[in-house]
Amino acid sequence: MTPHNAEQQPVHHTPVLLAEVLDALEIVSAGAYIDCTVGEGGHTEAILGAVPGCRVLGLDRDPSALATARIRLAPFGDSVRLANVSYALMVEEAKVHRFYPADGVLMDLGISSLQLAEKGRGFSFQRDDPLDMRFGPEGETLAEDVVNHYSERALIRVLQEYGEEPRARRISNAIVRKRPLRSTGELAKVIEEALGRRGRIHPATRTFQAIRIEVNQEMRTLETGLAAAIEVLKPGGKLVVISYHSLEDREVKVTMRDSPVLRVITKKPIPTSQEEVRVNPRSRSARMRVSERLDGGL
Ligand SMILES: C[S@@+](CC[C@H](N)C(=O)[O-])C[C@H]1O[C@@H](n2cnc3c(N)ncnc32)[C@H](O)[C@@H]1O
Repeated sequence: MTPHNAEQQPVHHTPVLLAEVLDALEIVSAGAYIDCTVGEGGHTEAILGAVPGCRVLGLDRDPSALATARIRLAPFGDSVRLANVSYALMVEEAKVHRFYPADGVLMDLGISSLQLAEKGRGFSFQRDDPLDMRFGPEGETLAEDVVNHYSERALIRVLQEYGEEPRARRISNAIVRKRPLRSTGELAKVIEEALGRRGRIHPATRTFQAIRIEVNQEMRTLETGLAAAIEVLKPGGKLVVISYHSLEDREVKVTMRDSPVLRVITKKPIPTSQEEVRVNPRSRSARMRVSERLDGGL
């Protein structure tokens, strides 16, 4: 079922940097593309619609996102394959579905508007949900484990490292004093009480991001995923990555720069335009980097 926002309007995820992604992939007819984070299928739909004859393999860790994508992409028939696996496993998956080697790989990292709005997932501080935050049901660690069972020191590290939260100590101390915490609402309230509220950004924003990254081991997965993407590409194939915070962007930048089999196309990351941010405020932190796979290896 489509999630609804507080005003009971259905929520859809708007694909970010869409025109830029299509440009960067340089899609060719009969080309094989891997959308590592198919989500609601926005980018994949546009890729398939842009050039007749191309094919897309869409991956997502989240079965619920994939179910939505499956309905949306049904009109494309056999041109699209969907699989409920982590992009860390894309090499095996590409071989199974005959997408190896691929003409392009897209990674649109982070979380979708749909997931943020979905009841029971625990991604949003604007809902009162159980502390879950896993992208898929196979994940073993829940946000609840991080919040209620990590030592104060470990919590500080998570908030500093993955949230770049300057007030990590104060927040972690408040959490430890108030736990056990049972819901996202309780967590958001503890943070708000510890920090007070200034400005438009909710004080729990960075903490929620940090816990989500820890729960899903997103940085380690990104490292594995980037290596897999490089392996799967054919010479001349494009790697396009959209990241949403500086930690991810740094990992993408360094991996592209240091890979002996990639040529970096975007010397600077491509941001969203003012117009895109106006229409879709959530896209404001997006940064896109593009590289081309060089000869050799395959
Ligand atoms: C920003 S959304 C993608 C939105 C999509 N591009 C669209 O246009 O609808 C990111 C997606 O990546 C998925 N995801 C996160 N980690 C993943 C992983 N390791 N492997 C595959 N998918 C992952 C999330 O479940 C989420 O659906």
